[in-house]
Amino acid sequence: MLKDLIRKHRRDDEEELDYSESYYDEGGKRIGFIGAGNMATAIVKGLLKAEVPQECISVYDCNVKQLKHMAELGVNIIYDGAELTEKSDIIVLAVKPQNYDEVLEEIKSAATPQKVFVTIAAGISIDYVRKGLGVDCPMVRVMPNTPLLLGKGATALCRSENISDDDFKVVYDMFANSGEAVILPEDKMNAVIAVNGSSPAYVYLFAKAMTDYAVSVGIEKDTALKLVAQTFMGSGKMLLASGDDPDTLIQKVCSKGGTTIEAVNVLNENNVPQIIMDAMAACTKRAEELGK
Ligand SMILES: NC(=O)c1ccc[n+]([C@@H]2O[C@H](COP(=O)([O-])OP(=O)(O)OC[C@H]3O[C@@H](n4cnc5c(N)ncnc54)[C@H](OP(=O)(O)O)[C@@H]3O)[C@@H](O)[C@H]2O)c1
Repeated sequence: MLKDLIRKHRRDDEEELDYSESYYDEGGKRIGFIGAGNMATAIVKGLLKAEVPQECISVYDCNVKQLKHMAELGVNIIYDGAELTEKSDIIVLAVKPQNYDEVLEEIKSAATPQKVFVTIAAGISIDYVRKGLGVDCPMVRVMPNTPLLLGKGATALCRSENISDDDFKVVYDMFANSGEAVILPEDKMNAVIAVNGSSPAYVYLFAKAMTDYAVSVGIEKDTALKLVAQTFMGSGKMLLASGDDPDTLIQKVCSKGGTTIEAVNVLNENNVPQIIMDAMAACTKRAEELGK
């Protein structure tokens, strides 16, 4: 599906562009990545799994080690951000928020109102990128998460007012092909980082505490991790499939006078739900700072 879309939406003016034959074969949306770290790798693997031709994907990173990993995936390697931008229709800015200014400065000479830019960085808004590029380009702001690497991502997206439905669909499918994808208004994109982008870390923290407890009572670490991870997966599926809300599911595990209610009482007495919400608010606050 994505492969077909990419082929279908080949640019009309592509003949005017200067690109090597090896770079671009039978035609299609050319997707470029600036930054070839965790996120770019996860997205590129998803694209390849969706049978997007390797020739349509290019990456640039200032870190040659990362480029070597990408070269092993068979995608095009370009050693210059402006050149990558010039040779791509959709440019995914996959660097840390702190590196956005230098990247935007480097590529602005190659930015045009026809090129679609995708920001996946915490706190970096559509307006921020457009100001940095000096062009009101079509854009998608995205907040993915690392389980995307396994095709189990949870991604929130929002689109600029001037992106075509077809271009948006290409970007949407990049993420929807590797998990769940939802569309949100841009004023929720900082807050959602706490919900899906950063939240795998809180889950791992919870998992670590549960595993540490298991080890402390003599259960082997690998065994404990297996049980904990499967419990997270099963509970997630219950949340999605049972039709019950979290409170109802908690009640269904807590029989009166039983063991679970004792644990839940300790968590509530220590304000764990409020602490989690405070942690999420700190996450959102940091996103707002990064986008200034
Ligand atoms: N990781 C997550 O869980 C997650 C979740 C949601 C969103 N995101 C967002 O995704 C973005 C990328 O995160 P990541 O985890 O993939 O980061 P990462 O693994 O550190 O990858 C970023 C890559 O960009 C390179 N880079 C830095 N400055 C550059 C420049 N000027 N030109 C070209 N390449 C440059 C880095 O090289 P050096 O290492 O040498 O600096 C690094 O290889 C971030 O903005 C983050 O907010 C991440």
